[in-house]
Amino acid sequence: MNLKTHLQHNIFQTISDVGAENGVSVFVIGGYVRDILLKRPSKDIDFVVLGNGLDIAEKVVKRLNVQKVAFYKNFGTAAFIYDELEIEFVGARKESYNRDSRKPVVENGTLQDDQNRRDFTINALAISLNKSSFGEVLDPFNGLADLDKKIIRTPLEPSKTYSDDPLRMMRAIRFATQLGFKIEQESLDAISKNADRLKIVSAERIVTELNKIILADKPSIGFKLLFDTKLLHQFFPEMVALQGIETVNGKSHKDNFYHTLEVLDNICENTDDLWLRWAAIMHDIAKPKTKRFNDTVGWTFHGHEDLGAKMTPKIFTRLKLPLDHKMKYVQKLVRLHLRPIALVSGSVTDTAVRRLLFEAGDDIDDLMTLCNADITSKNEYKILKYRQNFEKVRQKLKDVEEKDQIRNFQPPISGAEIMDIFQLSPSKIVGNLKNDIKEAILEGEIKNNYNDAYTYLMERAEFYGLTIPKRGK
Ligand code: CTP
Repeated sequence: MNLKTHLQHNIFQTISDVGAENGVSVFVIGGYVRDILLKRPSKDIDFVVLGNGLDIAEKVVKRLNVQKVAFYKNFGTAAFIYDELEIEFVGARKESYNRDSRKPVVENGTLQDDQNRRDFTINALAISLNKSSFGEVLDPFNGLADLDKKIIRTPLEPSKTYSDDPLRMMRAIRFATQLGFKIEQESLDAISKNADRLKIVSAERIVTELNKIILADKPSIGFKLLFDTKLLHQFFPEMVALQGIETVNGKSHKDNFYHTLEVLDNICENTDDLWLRWAAIMHDIAKPKTKRFNDTVGWTFHGHEDLGAKMTPKIFTRLKLPLDHKMKYVQKLVRLHLRPIALVSGSVTDTAVRRLLFEAGDDIDDLMTLCNADITSKNEYKILKYRQNFEKVRQKLKDVEEKDQIRNFQPPISGAEIMDIFQLSPSKIVGNLKNDIKEAILEGEIKNNYNDAYTYLMERAEFYGLTIPKRGK
């Protein structure tokens, strides 16, 4: 096979020229070749040089007039950006690993050595940039056939590939999920066998792969594989605990692991946002810890939304996920995920609706997306009924928001103004007055405007025994 037509960019010709002038062979290798064949856009190009990679990189950089290059002498690699492409050069190498580390011992090697050390046959494909064979594909492990058959397979014996670098177990599942490929049975067995080796991989690396799985079109594929191979057990036991059905007196609860995956796949149809997808993963995370059985009502999970919100920062810390506003956002959606549906009943007051709008603020639409995804049932009739209820809630939220504009609630009278009016310094009473105004608005006792708030403020001030000034404004 020749892929010359895919090498139109001047970088390929330049590198081919520099290689020829220096009597050195150069190849494009790895993910970029795979992605050409899968017609996936890619901006990462890796070049392998049979000789000194740094030396050739330096000459190429000069020819292309690139100013900024990073040379990693210890790894024998050089990296730079050219025309928005992320370019990396490396000398062909042979690697050997020791059991306790992902860092290999590296020696110079042949192209075949370099292809041997790669994770999957579809990632070991190379394209020649040498003059006599420009564009030809070198495929020692039948990676082309595997691309065709949609198979993830290791070039060497799977146990060796995974044990050498256990991160590859996560990568196998990530590629299977992103590309819709099947992992070869022998490979799957090797992953199950080596699952506990994941412990030598840092949480950051694991979560990078996990997030790529979550951002795929159908993340449940990846999570099922992670569960079945017991990789999930190594870093996310709380999610593993969701699995299983318990039955008492003929009453069963649903399997919350598979329910969570259904919610996750559902939400992926409506959002590409990683953190909203994380909220779907976390929404029922505390169900195992709050599960109780009661003869009259059967299974209950009281308080799982609050406990789930409490568990969120702990899980994010362990997984090395961000602890900033993104975590807070996930935590808020977990805490509020039952609230919209509780507003279905006809007797629900505007107060409850206003309170939800106030608490969710700008995230109300995302909360509704989560709630909508949470509607899963095998019973068509139930689904229809839930969806109708859900639409009712959406309408209630819209009506109340139009009337009262609570979503981006700003107190109509600020703390500073209260201090100014009553000549107070910062103190508890200022907070109390502010809170009283907010509560009165949410309760619907007064309208969300300055005049009503001012009149009410005077009433409350009198109650607290403050001296009421003459109104200047
Ligand atoms: N590679 C490997 N083992 C790893 C990581 C990478 O063998 N643990 C090799 C593979 O040949 C891979 C190449 O290095 O194709 C580049 O790795 P990377 O850029 O991380 O991944 P890509 O395969 O390019 O895929 P993506 O860009 O989707 O991450």
